[in-house]
Amino acid sequence: MPSTPRTSDGDGGGAAMMGRPTRMHHYAFVTTDLEKTRSFYEEIIGLPLVATWAEVDHLPNRDRAYCHAFFELADGSALAFFQFEDPDQEIPVVPPASPFAHIALSCDPQTQREVQNRLRKAGYGAEDVTVRDHGYCVSLYVYDPNGVRIELTADCQEMPEILIRQKATAHETLRRWLAGDHTSNNDLRGESGAG
Ligand SMILES: [Fe+2]
Repeated sequence: MPSTPRTSDGDGGGAAMMGRPTRMHHYAFVTTDLEKTRSFYEEIIGLPLVATWAEVDHLPNRDRAYCHAFFELADGSALAFFQFEDPDQEIPVVPPASPFAHIALSCDPQTQREVQNRLRKAGYGAEDVTVRDHGYCVSLYVYDPNGVRIELTADCQEMPEILIRQKATAHETLRRWLAGDHTSNNDLRGESGAG
């Protein structure tokens, strides 16, 4: 088995010398409408359908026929969706309860604008799409047809330098924040907002 490269950077976290997973492989959800989901991810977000596994498995408690579809990002990772055959076989879609829970996909500013235009053409109104400048990135937020909150994130040009600074102070900032000092360290953003 090939070994995972080990890192020697970081400023005191226990993970600094551990091998680490290389990238996201896939993140999976349940849907009751794979066609609507396919249309959203292929035709609006721009993630091609690259694999569809038709399966029958004993899970949980009985045999269930289901379809497992993968929509691929440019790095080879994927968002995946299950749809079950019969309505009474359906396992409920459970989108994250918190509006702060979301998946962020990295993109460049042009791709972000193109997605925004396709959303508009597909009938998404201004109230359905939020664009927020976090200072270090600009994010577009929209809910997919299953209630999963998707973020399209375009990093600012200075991101490599910002990440060096962040990496050097991440543990220190976490410690002081947890200790009660909630002073903002984001001097880059033009407006408030989390995500
Ligand atoms: Fe985010």
